Amino acid sequence: MKRLEGKSALITGSARGIGRTFAEAYIREGATVAIADINFERAEHTASELGASAYALKIDVTDQTSIDQAIAAVDAKTGGIDILVNNAALFDLAPIAGITRESFDTLFAINVSGTLFTLQAAAKSMIARGTGGKIINMASQAGRRGEALVAVYCATKAAVISLTQSAGLDLIKHGINVNAIAPGVVDGEHWDGVDAKFAEYENRPLGEKKRLVGEAVPFGRMGTAEDLAGMAIFLASKEADYIVAQTYNVDGGNWMS
Ligand SMILES: NC(=O)c1ccc[n+]([C@@H]2O[C@H](COP(=O)([O-])OP(=O)(O)OC[C@H]3O[C@@H](n4cnc5c(N)ncnc54)[C@H](O)[C@@H]3O)[C@@H](O)[C@H]2O)c1
Repeated sequence: MKRLEGKSALITGSARGIGRTFAEAYIREGATVAIADINFERAEHTASELGASAYALKIDVTDQTSIDQAIAAVDAKTGGIDILVNNAALFDLAPIAGITRESFDTLFAINVSGTLFTLQAAAKSMIARGTGGKIINMASQAGRRGEALVAVYCATKAAVISLTQSAGLDLIKHGINVNAIAPGVVDGEHWDGVDAKFAEYENRPLGEKKRLVGEAVPFGRMGTAEDLAGMAIFLASKEADYIVAQTYNVDGGNWMS
């Protein structure tokens, strides 16, 4: 029995990386998935690779009109959104003295406002239909504690954990479960960029930071997007009906809470 049979999902930032892997996993479980990304060309390419149960949507989670249009497009195409994964995010790194207002505003606009207002738009649609739904926010171990060079990104992910709690408590009366996943370090294009930034700020050769963070994981290696997919399916499924406002660490043992 497929666990998401007939469900309609939208995953932001799913043209690549973790979001793309979640889309593949949801499709395996019987869902139809909107590959929604600011990079529409790549979203189209990804959707074409994932097959008939995937379709591409343009979304910029910093733009309310774009969010509303994307949710309306899912509703029109599938009869209503059942599952939202708030996955789109941006990373940046700088010592406190080097943080720019531009970087702060951009990260908060995508990671925090983007999460909240996409969640809001999806929740409104779910409430109007009265069928409930599942909303999964991508937090991070970075939201559990600060890091010297990562102040802004860490603060955005702490905000995602907090929003998950408030939205979870408010929306469960409508049968909407809001929960979050806090990954640790997940290999992929995103971490290639992170590694390059650490190389610059900590004067390291490329690849060294990645090797060190992988060795430091109690499990013994960096995570893969596939390592997270089981939790993403579970939280989107009926089995998670009684789970409300939680953030689950899926990080090979990096953080315990
Ligand atoms: N990779 C990791 O180690 C790691 C660790 C912890 C948490 N996370 C979180 O997991 C999620 C996915 O991470 P990833 O590694 O796949 O990232 P990624 O950078 O590979 O993918 C992010 C996607 O978001 C899209 N995007 C960026 N801005 C957007 C916008 N304004 N509107 C819509 N889409 C936009 C990008 O085009 C890209 O396709 C993020 O929330 C990230 O913070 C990742």
